[in-house]
This record gives sequence, structure tokens and C-alpha cells, in this order.
Amino acid sequence: MTDQWLPPIHRDGDVVVILDQRVLPHREVFLRCTTVKQVVNAIRTMAIRGAPAIGVAGAMALALGARAIVAAETQTFRQKFIRLCEQVRTARPTANNLAWAVERVYSVVVENPRATVAELQNLIQQKADELLCEDVATNLRIGSWGCKVIPRGARVLTYCNAGALATADYGTAVGVIRSAFAADPTVQVYSCETRPFLQGARLTSYELMRAGIPVTLITDNAAGSLMQQKKIDVVVVGADRIAANGDAANKIGTYTMAILARTHDIPFYVAAPRSTIDPSLPDGSEIPIEQRDPKEVTHFQGKPVAPEGVKALNPAFDVTPNKYITGIITEVGILVKPYGKAIRKALEE
Ligand code: MRU
Repeated sequence: MTDQWLPPIHRDGDVVVILDQRVLPHREVFLRCTTVKQVVNAIRTMAIRGAPAIGVAGAMALALGARAIVAAETQTFRQKFIRLCEQVRTARPTANNLAWAVERVYSVVVENPRATVAELQNLIQQKADELLCEDVATNLRIGSWGCKVIPRGARVLTYCNAGALATADYGTAVGVIRSAFAADPTVQVYSCETRPFLQGARLTSYELMRAGIPVTLITDNAAGSLMQQKKIDVVVVGADRIAANGDAANKIGTYTMAILARTHDIPFYVAAPRSTIDPSLPDGSEIPIEQRDPKEVTHFQGKPVAPEGVKALNPAFDVTPNKYITGIITEVGILVKPYGKAIRKALEE
């Protein structure tokens, strides 16, 4: 483990450097990607994961791809670029941030109809760099809004990893915790391990420890009992896609935490940038839920933990209905019910 914190994705000249989250916390391995295919593969295989982080990775992939397009005129460039956009957009289905980032990068082509191919390639790179910086600034704002809802000395439960590793840096839900801890060092965290991919165990506990924030790792199954014993004061999680009415998709198991929090009268907050909001979906029922390889359930670190041939299901996300959400912490403020109205207003800002 090196002492210096390196963000999950950055650009080194013509190379997109991705911290391979599959081997954390034991090893810090950096993938040096020079093609769209390599970045898309890193997204698909979860070398980089987390909604905002895959949005930034998608934008960086498009910049690499744009540079590699050979086209004599803009029209041909545009056609080839549209195909790349499709390839990147579909790398993973649930996080809205990926489609949002692809749209933002593609807007460069639409808004500059008279630019040459070389100019477009530069403008696309600039846009990708801009999205990376913007994400960090957005997370800092989410953190400063969110810390207002964290009581003094709070024991905060978080789920999955909505930290620096899931974004360009700083994190959303973990960003809220970072900001709260900066103001009050008695804040502490319970991190659920997050079966089956163990983002909580491998990633959240790793980055909180590096930040010097007290963290206790628990199994997902222990959360209810801790709440019953009044050991949790507030729950803060991230989101992958939020519908127009505030229903929020996040890592499978988040819904269970929301129900538990409601049962025990514990505030349940979702922290997410506006790029996670998909206003085209009226509610959460149409959010596409990624189904991953059942082997992630039947095996642990490559070794079987279930009878050979057992049928297994592995939905990667679930949807928490808006009624269980106390507030949605965004970069423009904390949205509260009725979410439809609050979300419309936030998107207009
Ligand atoms: O499958 P993952 O690891 O990409 O899922 C990540 C999550 O569910 C995060 O909580 C979400 O993307 C918010 S990240 C700031």
C-alpha cells in the first residue's frame, strides 16, 4: 500500500490510468488503457465501478476513441463516433451517469458543426477532462450539504462503496462522511460488507482507513441487529439511478437497509449528483437492473461455496421507493418530499 492517495482514474498524456478495484485492498495495480475497448472492458469487469466513476471512464474512453478515428471529413467522423458512443453507453446498464457522460461528450460534436476532425478530437478530450474535474467539485458540494444532516458523534451506516473509488475522487455518500468527520472527529462509520462483490469490505473500509476515519466492518446481516440496539444514528448511501419521483436504484441490499432504517426510525439519506437523476423515468419500476454472473454468488474468490450446479440469481441493484428516503443530498442542496417537484427544480438550476 503506497502512502499517496491516487484517484481511481486519471489521464497521463494519451493513456487513461485506472486503479484496478478488483484486486483492492491487497494490491494497488494500475491499468494503462490506450483504447476504447480496454476502458469498456475495465468498466464491464468492474476494474472501475461506481456510477460517477464509470461516467468519467466512459468520457475518457470516448476521448481515446475519438483520437483513433481516421476520417477525411467531419461527417464520417461523426458516424464513427456515434458507434463508439453506443459501445460505451451500453458497457453497464443501471448507472445513469454513464449515459449522461456519453451525452455530454457527444454534445461537443453537435455544438460544433463547423469544427474540423482534429478540432473535434481536441474538444472531446477537453470535455472528458472537464467532466473529471467537475465530478470532484460536485462531490465536495454534496459533502458540504450532507454534513449538515450528520449529528455530532454520529454512528453512520453506509452500504457498498460510494466513496472516492466510486467517483473521480472524494465520493458521494462517503464524501458526506468525510465532510462530517472533518468538522467532528467523533463521527464513526459502520460499513456493510456488501455481498457478493464486497465493495464495503474491500473498498469502503480501505478508503476510510486511509482517510483516518474510524470504521467498523459488519456483515450485511448484522445491520438490523445493530439498529435494534440503537447503535446506528443515520444511514447514508449512494445511488446509480434516481427516477423522476425520487425512487433510487443502488447496490442490491440497499432496499433492505432502507426498510430496516424506517422500522427503527433512523434517517435514511441518498447522496448523489444530479447526473444520477433520470427524469425520463417516472418511477423506479423501469430502471434497468443489471444481472451479473451467478458465479459471483456461488463462488468466493474463485472457489465454490455452494453445491455444483445450484441455480443462483445475481441482480446487482435494487430500487428503494421514495417513501423510505429522508432526503436526497445533491450538489445543489438536500431534496425532500415531494420529490417530483424538488427534482424538477434541482434539474433546472
Ligand atoms: O456495482 P457497483 O460497484 O458499480 O455499484 C456501485 C454502487 O451501487 C454505488 O453505491 C453507486 O454507484 C453510487 S457511487 C457514488
